[in-house]
Amino acid sequence: MLTDSFQRTIKYLRVSITDRCNLRCSYCRPEKCGNTSSNFEHIQHNEIMTYEELLRLASIFARLGVEKIRVTGGEPLVRKNVPEFVGDLLSIKGISDVSLTTNGVLLQDYAEALKAKGLKRINISLDSLVPDKFSKITGRNEFSRVWKGIQKVIELGLDPVKINVVAMRGINDDEFFDFATLTLELPVHVRFIEFMPMAFTTGDSARNRILSSEIIEKIESQWVLEPIPKAPSSGPAECFKIKNAPGTIGFISPISRHFCGECNRMRITAAGSLKPCLLSHDEIDIKAALRSGADDDYLENLIYSAVAIKWKRHEIENGMSPDGGGGGIMFRIGG
Ligand code: GTP
Ligand code: 5AD
Ligand code: SF4
Repeated sequence: MLTDSFQRTIKYLRVSITDRCNLRCSYCRPEKCGNTSSNFEHIQHNEIMTYEELLRLASIFARLGVEKIRVTGGEPLVRKNVPEFVGDLLSIKGISDVSLTTNGVLLQDYAEALKAKGLKRINISLDSLVPDKFSKITGRNEFSRVWKGIQKVIELGLDPVKINVVAMRGINDDEFFDFATLTLELPVHVRFIEFMPMAFTTGDSARNRILSSEIIEKIESQWVLEPIPKAPSSGPAECFKIKNAPGTIGFISPISRHFCGECNRMRITAAGSLKPCLLSHDEIDIKAALRSGADDDYLENLIYSAVAIKWKRHEIENGMSPDGGGGGIMFRIGG
């Protein structure tokens, strides 16, 4: 079993399979950062973890007690053979749940294959329901493909279908009612996320942050929100429901109500580092060990040492700035 220095048990692994993305979200991977776009060179092909390497690590994690794996990116679906990879992860003894976080652009094309390989649930990022605004936020005119992807996974019966909305003042704060209304119309789980300062996010994004309490107040001015009790496996969101709605409304509040105390996660970055915490700069290069022929015991020990340096909690509000002092590069870690 993997237990960290604060008695938290690690049962959940997030695997970023690529740093590439087909969108350019202003707060994550903007077209340009200041005057330069050179920050965004892709990781070289041979430096990206192969599926074989990731499956070997996933099997070791499973032996150590991990039960749940989330595949992330960049945008995971820009990599080839994701459905097969999902199927291979699900065939590892001990892994009972594999999910995907995607921007949805390619979801229509892969939804059936993903389901056929055993994917049961999915998280999709969508910050606006207005096509023009979507294009402004993401730098790409792809709203309709994302929307069709969402409809497709609902049709196929994936459950839950979670929709991640990063809340930004002056950008999508006029759409909170519309997102709430969506949960009355469709069986989707809308989750508003407080913006976190990561590398390449600008000061503007931090100023535009909206805390969950403000969104809750706004939605409660229109509807009664019934709290849904938190299941041990329900992740970081606090969830509510409008009476008789098929969907739910959740709030992920890393800033105003951090959930570090319940953290059960480890991450593998696209370039093959173990990342104990999304918001610390600590990384342990496990790819180098893998590629120099390390045996499973050695890899296990590296995993234990990464778990041992998990922070008690993140320190965003204690001086971590959006300009490099905050979290790492989101599109390489995958959230
Ligand atoms: P499930 O609960 O399994 O559905 O997954 P999730 O909500 O953790 O995953 P998802 O990839 O949809 O992430 C939703 C938001 O939570 C994103 O903004 C992530 O960056 C954020 N997030 C996920 N894990 C952590 C974490 O350990 N710490 C912090 N601070 N934020 C996280
Ligand atoms: N703060 C909060 N959430 C973020 N995401 C990307 N960057 C940030 C950030 N700085 C979200 C995406 C996606 C998930 C993996 O993380 O919208 O849904
Ligand atoms: Fe947007 Fe996700 Fe791509 Fe970042 S990785 S640019 S949040 S779609």
